[in-house]
Amino acid sequence: MPLHVLDHPLAQHVLTHLRDKKTKPVLFRTLSYQISLLLALEATRDLSTVEKSIETPLEPMKSRVLAKPLVVVPILRAGLGMLQPFHDVFPDVSVGYVGLERDHETAIARSYYCKLPPLTNARVLVVDPMLATGGSAAHALSLVKEHGATEVSFVCIVASPEGVAALQAAHPEVPIHAGALDRELNDRKYIMPGLGDFGDRLYGT
Ligand code: PRP
Ligand code: URA
Repeated sequence: MPLHVLDHPLAQHVLTHLRDKKTKPVLFRTLSYQISLLLALEATRDLSTVEKSIETPLEPMKSRVLAKPLVVVPILRAGLGMLQPFHDVFPDVSVGYVGLERDHETAIARSYYCKLPPLTNARVLVVDPMLATGGSAAHALSLVKEHGATEVSFVCIVASPEGVAALQAAHPEVPIHAGALDRELNDRKYIMPGLGDFGDRLYGT
């Protein structure tokens, strides 16, 4: 599936301040909210709708409502920084959680938590701000598929070319939505130029 990169001046503005090492956690959280809101709207552009008959104060009409339940799955812990706008825009959204942590030496993700609602027949959005090697995202997508998800997208704030390639190889049918596509990974598997460790900057750790 193709990679969709946000194309909006506000996305560039917000990303610039997110990347700036002088940005403190309180502003970092607000900026994460703003870019995730743009991503939430973009990643749900293709949601299916069904017809519904209603009456306006003036006359009956046929209108449309969302057809399927929506489930958002943040990858703990940094993915929590992207969750709130999905709640705000889609009040009926269900939330599942996947806990993954990269080993500092090997950069291989270890799973420590998984709690998912029913996913069969739902539209599922797995969200994690950083797509670096792609190991965490690929693991999370396998977990949601094992739990019955068939319509899944992946949403991130910054992606690396290596992570996109790895994810497209492991889950070729899954669309990827990113706020930015950066240059490369460094030898510690951090995204360059990137924004550093998202979880640490979000939570001030
Ligand atoms: C970060 C990030 C992704 C992962 C990306 O999480 O939030 O989950 O790294 O790297 P990958 O594509 O190479 O797997 P981290 O493991 O640092 O955990 P945290 O969210 O608890 O900070
Ligand atoms: N995780 C992060 O938080 N940042 C990176 O650049 C790579 C993985």
